Amino acid sequence: MIYILNSDSLFHLATRRTSYVLGIYKKRWLSHYYWGLGIEPDSHAMEFVPAEPSAYEVTDDNTDKSFSLNRVPLEYPYGLAGDFRSPAFEAFSAGRAVLDLSVASWRVYAGRPELPGLPCACVNGAADVQTLEFTLADSLTSFEAILSYSVFEEADLIARNTTIRNTGSSPLDILSAYSFSVDLQLPGSGADRENLELLSLHGAWARERSIVRQAVKAGRVEIESVRGISGHFTSPNCAVVRPDTTERSGEAWAFALVYSGDWRIACERNEEGNYRIQGGLNPSTFAWCLEPGGSFVCPEALLTYSNEGLSGMSRNFHTMVLKHILPVAWASRPRPILINNWEATYFNFDEEKLLSIAKKAKELGVELFVVDDGWFGKRNDDSTSLGDWTIDEAKLPGGLSALADKVRGLGLLFGLWVEPEMVSPDSDLYRAHPDWCLHMEGRPRSESRNQLILDLTREEVRDEIVRRIVSVLSICRADYVKWDMNRPFSHAGSALLPPNDFYRRMYQKEIRHRYALGLYDIMRRITRALPDVLFEGCAGGGGRMDMGVLQYMPQYWTSDNTDAFARLAIQYGTSLFFPPVVMGNHVSAVPNHQTLRSTPIKARSLVAMSGNLGYELDPTRFSDEESQEIKSANAWYKAHRELIQFGRFLRLASPFEGNYSSWIFVSGDKRKALVFWFRVLSKVNHGRESILLNGLEENILYVVAIDGKPVRELSGSELMRRGLPLSPSRGDGEALCFELSAKD
Ligand code: GLA
Repeated sequence: MIYILNSDSLFHLATRRTSYVLGIYKKRWLSHYYWGLGIEPDSHAMEFVPAEPSAYEVTDDNTDKSFSLNRVPLEYPYGLAGDFRSPAFEAFSAGRAVLDLSVASWRVYAGRPELPGLPCACVNGAADVQTLEFTLADSLTSFEAILSYSVFEEADLIARNTTIRNTGSSPLDILSAYSFSVDLQLPGSGADRENLELLSLHGAWARERSIVRQAVKAGRVEIESVRGISGHFTSPNCAVVRPDTTERSGEAWAFALVYSGDWRIACERNEEGNYRIQGGLNPSTFAWCLEPGGSFVCPEALLTYSNEGLSGMSRNFHTMVLKHILPVAWASRPRPILINNWEATYFNFDEEKLLSIAKKAKELGVELFVVDDGWFGKRNDDSTSLGDWTIDEAKLPGGLSALADKVRGLGLLFGLWVEPEMVSPDSDLYRAHPDWCLHMEGRPRSESRNQLILDLTREEVRDEIVRRIVSVLSICRADYVKWDMNRPFSHAGSALLPPNDFYRRMYQKEIRHRYALGLYDIMRRITRALPDVLFEGCAGGGGRMDMGVLQYMPQYWTSDNTDAFARLAIQYGTSLFFPPVVMGNHVSAVPNHQTLRSTPIKARSLVAMSGNLGYELDPTRFSDEESQEIKSANAWYKAHRELIQFGRFLRLASPFEGNYSSWIFVSGDKRKALVFWFRVLSKVNHGRESILLNGLEENILYVVAIDGKPVRELSGSELMRRGLPLSPSRGDGEALCFELSAKD
């Protein structure tokens, strides 16, 4: 609900549990008054009283010396005019800096607007979505910023958008434009409010999304990507937390960008000990020339608050992803168990090999067979053929549709790997159109994995990609597609855009964002042309796993690292912002191809079953015992997949804190739950172990079973306070799964 109070100068955005309150300070500035646990909406008197300006501060216009903008919590701050914190944007209109933004008008309406060309949270029939929109204008230039706040009441989340308009008759040069900026106004004094930490996700290829907390003690901490993709190295999602915020309690103010290109999020502590958090397009790789009458739409930012620790924060994001981010058709549709041939064969396969894998997989209960890289052009290694999406007849002489039919004949769905955005220098596509890749005149065409990136800023390139990809997927009537993207940006220029003509008119600096818009255009067109196909995103594993891509691809290949123990951390970190159903997790062979570690099959299975289950190995090599184990695992997963894929997921023990990992899936009515528990290294004489559960109903009596056999009965309150006793066996790589069901 949005409440308008105090003669239209106070705006209270109320979600189920939280309040976000804005005011128009001094009848001019859109200011931030409060964001936290819900307060009564009739707090009409809420006001903001800034600290008096100190020596060495500046007053705004010399008529009112009672305050300095440096002390006002602003919602879209401009710099260089007395506020010494970081600005939310920098722009020049007809050569003049934009240095003023006052509220010109506002309105409230039901629902939310779509963002032209960009993904955003969708209403999807929810009756509780409302939007508050402010127009901020500069008195001297033709710059306008439209700030909109869409309140998703049920998810406890606010989607923020910023659109910049050029109302004048000369171009507006935008040098930076964040999607959001928040000046947190925390209660208390001193250490009560001056010791916040930034929690973010960091890593690398095959080591994505480790949780990092760092105190923001002075100045600014920034996390970002300049790689053209949201990144393995960091993730465009983060939270500002108290030092005592844990998984189960404490405060978190969290942010997620619905964007897949270069981004930055910054957390700054000012001289008062207050925090400014802002984020959006990365200013170091962005600029935009906005023509007269034009609008520039910044990517969407999702903001949520929790006083129930990180688990409350994750609940809000998971609800949001399931209800408002994923494509509706897949939001609650159970996902098939798949097998992918990549680690089984790499590039070395033929039809007979693929069909032998498919046949065995079918016997084990797998439902979808995916042909990974290597089926097209002359692709026997990664040096060739990207862009030439025609079947390699040396490997698959019968053609793609014949292979697909044979796979379907076995009773499996058929899926295919593609990498639509790329071109190999050794390809017919590149030989025909050498200027179709991103490049800079006179500079090297720097390769990564022997490939170049197609220039998605160009319409004819996008049209040709869509044509080729839709055609190949239609020929084989693919049920599933793995959409890969295997290199970061470098020397990224476009032959079509004009060169930079002056230090402020940096057309070539528009490329990264234009690419992202081009990417969304081809994703939209291809997924709309093939509405029944299940798409899985991938960028060398989880390199572009973000809220933007998830709008088109309801699942994502979480990491190229398939080692079960490495995956504990990767999946745990990923779950902070994304629900398990979007995580593609595969059981792979031992020794693992990335770590050379051997892990028991049960642990490999349970780790992969903690989300969207798949396999990435050659099942024809299974022993009879392993086959039996996998067959029962698949049957068990099918029986519980609804709960795993769409139940509530809560983390119980963190792999970042030691030897143990644990999580729980709880059904909506809390009458069923599954507890997964993992111990990496065996401990001798370690005393009695237990795990404290979470998310259950206190007064339900649960029957706890292992492998279908009841072992004890305990109430929800006991399980959440005394814990669930464990009796693990000895040996490294121990994994347990407990099934809880309410006793009638
Ligand atoms: C990337 C993906 C892998 C696999 C290979 C194929 O690395 O992440 O899963 O598809 O490409 O080349």
